[in-house]
Amino acid sequence: MFATVEKQRNGIVLINIDNEETKIVFTNYGARIVSWKYDDNSIVLGNIVEADEFYEPNPFFFGATVGRYGGRIANATFELDGKTYHLEHNDGAHNIHGGTNGLDSRFFDYQIEEQVGQIKIIFTTQIKSTDDYFPGDIELKVIHTYDMDHKWTIEYEATTTEKTLFNPMNHVYFNLNRDNNMIDNHYISSNKLAMYPLGEDNIVNSTDTIDLSTIFNSNKIQFKELFTSENPKIKQQMDMFNGVDHPFEVENGEMAVENKRFVLQVKTDMPNIVIFTFNDTSSWDSDFNIYKAHSGFTLETQCIPNDINLYGDKAPSIITPDQPYYSKTSYKIFEKADI
Ligand code: BGC
Repeated sequence: MFATVEKQRNGIVLINIDNEETKIVFTNYGARIVSWKYDDNSIVLGNIVEADEFYEPNPFFFGATVGRYGGRIANATFELDGKTYHLEHNDGAHNIHGGTNGLDSRFFDYQIEEQVGQIKIIFTTQIKSTDDYFPGDIELKVIHTYDMDHKWTIEYEATTTEKTLFNPMNHVYFNLNRDNNMIDNHYISSNKLAMYPLGEDNIVNSTDTIDLSTIFNSNKIQFKELFTSENPKIKQQMDMFNGVDHPFEVENGEMAVENKRFVLQVKTDMPNIVIFTFNDTSSWDSDFNIYKAHSGFTLETQCIPNDINLYGDKAPSIITPDQPYYSKTSYKIFEKADI
């Protein structure tokens, strides 16, 4: 296992990790994943060759570290300790992905550590209250580790100067199919698959979940079955968003996604996973946009979007200066014959 560093134009540095049958690439721009390949099969969406041109105008946040707050905050407003905060309205009336000056568009400092059986890239940056209008300045480490078992782990470590919201996530799009054909054939599985319905403008406004395992009488469900379901609750949601763009609660933060050849196992200490099936690609007007709807899906591990407006001072995304933040998510790829 070894790492090599390659400099592109415009400040982009690619860090390539080679683990024989798998290869993974990260960049300092947004501390993001750029590529992950099993043999010659690309299992994430991205662009290694033209990374310096591809990522900056990409409106879908491919592979980026997103935050300080990953999901939407309704009306770009929240209250904390009796004070009302007004954020940037960068998604209609709402705030998404922490605003336009979020983590995805930063050049992180980095350090590479080659250890026994794994390679770590420690990315560091700061977010100031004046950058995004949340309270508190944050010191952040995003640590990407890749190991001999073809497992990619992300750890976030942060401290804040004031009580604030912190809810970062990674916006990688997976696709286990050869040539990244549409993901309808993939199955998602977990002992619990509870989906939070969304209201208008994709906002989570209810914690009354739809229990997919009961509806489908199975813990393993194909995306296609969801997209075409005649169940009125599911159909109403699929019709509204042209696919999945929903937070899920899964058993013990563990779920898997598979196609015929591969299994991707996810494990997180975050309470929710937002699955977004890339439902409408038309807003990206660029020659780089070769993507059709449903050509990838995200597994964004985070506290439920808009938690502050759902749970008030009990919102799990609240962090304080006396308690450093830590969270961990891993994605592991297997070839089925290996299991
Ligand atoms: C959101 C989608 C949004 C996408 C790209 C996802 O996290 O849930 O609604 O289109 O990010 O910004």
